[in-house]
Amino acid sequence: MVLWCRRALASLWQWGPGGVRRPISLSVGASGLFGSGGSHEKEKLSLQDIAELIRSRACQKVLVMVGAGISTPSGIPDFRSPGSGLYNNLQQYHIPYPEAIFELEFFFHNPKPFFKLAKELYPGNYKPNVAHYFLRLLYDKGLLLRLYTQNIDGLERVSGIHPSKLVEAHGTFASATCTVCRRSFPGEDCWADVMADRVPCCPVCNGVVKPDIVFFGEPLPQRFFLHMADFPLADLLLVLGTSLEVEPFASLSEAVRSTVPRLLINRDLVGPFAWHPRSRDVAQLGDLVRSVETLVGLLGWTEELQALVQRETGKLDGQDR
Ligand code: APR
Repeated sequence: MVLWCRRALASLWQWGPGGVRRPISLSVGASGLFGSGGSHEKEKLSLQDIAELIRSRACQKVLVMVGAGISTPSGIPDFRSPGSGLYNNLQQYHIPYPEAIFELEFFFHNPKPFFKLAKELYPGNYKPNVAHYFLRLLYDKGLLLRLYTQNIDGLERVSGIHPSKLVEAHGTFASATCTVCRRSFPGEDCWADVMADRVPCCPVCNGVVKPDIVFFGEPLPQRFFLHMADFPLADLLLVLGTSLEVEPFASLSEAVRSTVPRLLINRDLVGPFAWHPRSRDVAQLGDLVRSVETLVGLLGWTEELQALVQRETGKLDGQDR
């Protein structure tokens, strides 16, 4: 992770006028939703309080940050869970160390391990789960300011959340780029090759075509910089299914104003929720689906969510036929 952090932190520097590199400030405002804190500060918030803020629409600019933990219920392994995490199961790819599978230097040396992994993760093999459809409900109800995801499985799009509300911070399979002539292609143009264990090649220059997944050392998508406008605006932050180990994404969790409530839904306490907690943090730990269903119950959205899951899953099953 140090490798990724060091390189990714470099991407937090922007080229200013005249090519001068300057750091981007992840802004944190002074006061916000509940006054400026201090002696009148409400005692610790509960999950019930967070649900009430959403249900009553006291919070209407909800920012969400997610990681691989929201897709494990769909059958996609996350990266770091002991035993089941992807980084514990890469032996078959014969790579020098786990993160190499997302490193350009190794990719140019041997792209096959990445494409074997891509074959497993390619959109179309998995379906969204209740966690994705909870976020879709936030979107449908006009409460979702933006969803920042580290995931490359595309399940947020499949769940029906409009791409304008998404920041796919670590890229996507939806598009691909030739590593030689830099021509861009729709992601589905690579699908047949990837499924047939062939390395996709550019029809023009025969260079290797790589899905637009962000590799270590590559700059994050331009849309990532929407955070500079989004996070100072947010009045509630939800963080689901991530270890918050990878920068610069993890630092976003501290970019909301200091008085904005933050809810972590995860197996365990991670990142700033563990080592730099704030007075209005709430952590709902344990199984992610159970935690989401508890929150949805407190919101009074259980039936609505069940109907949405049934309807959308039926549509996807219909497409499979
Ligand atoms: N219930 C609750 N928590 C879960 C569940 C579950 N069913 N499944 C996984 N989790 C939690 C794990 O305990 C872990 O804290 O989700 C988190 C997933 O963390 P990671 O595996 O590190 O995944 P993520 O945070 O998305 O990784 C970030 O690392 O290598 C890079 O580019 C890669 O985007 C990825 C980034």
